[in-house]
Amino acid sequence: MDINTLLPFKSGSAEATESFAAQLAQALPRGTVIALDGNLGAGKTVFARGFARGLGITESVSSPTYTIIQEYPLNDGGYLYHMDLYRISDSVSALGFGIDEYLNADDSYSLVEWPERISDILPPGTIFLKITRLSDTERIFELA
Ligand SMILES: Nc1ncnc2c1ncn2[C@@H]1O[C@H](COP(=O)(O)OP(=O)(O)O)[C@@H](O)[C@H]1O
Ligand SMILES: [Mg+2]
Repeated sequence: MDINTLLPFKSGSAEATESFAAQLAQALPRGTVIALDGNLGAGKTVFARGFARGLGITESVSSPTYTIIQEYPLNDGGYLYHMDLYRISDSVSALGFGIDEYLNADDSYSLVEWPERISDILPPGTIFLKITRLSDTERIFELA
């Protein structure tokens, strides 16, 4: 499926964001990297939770602010990598823990919160998803 048919998307609730993310997950191939660009509270982690659900992951998904990367195994090999780079200063320190291995894993998906920290090493083909908060409950998702 062409994801342009799903975007831009206006969400009216966290649940709607989760359903939208689940739909995207089902439409996108393994190897996909999504840079989630939005302020604190925009809904990056909510999106990741829905995306995981769309991939059939049943573990609960929370923000990996302290662990930096959380890995969720997929049913038939590969992982969903959920990264929160808030505490990472730049790509040099990210490369220091091997972030390129995660970002370039063809059998896996990567969702990256605070992608601007590593904008110089995001792989070609990375989907830049911009999240804008319109109100307490409304968000716009669009390709940046
Ligand atoms: N339409 C919406 N989409 C996503 N989150 C929403 C929406 N409306 C309200 N929220 C709330 O906004 C917050 C988003 O938090 P979170 O996903 O942790 O943000 P981030 O990871 O971008 O810092 C949650 O408390 C969520 O319930
Ligand atoms: Mg978050």
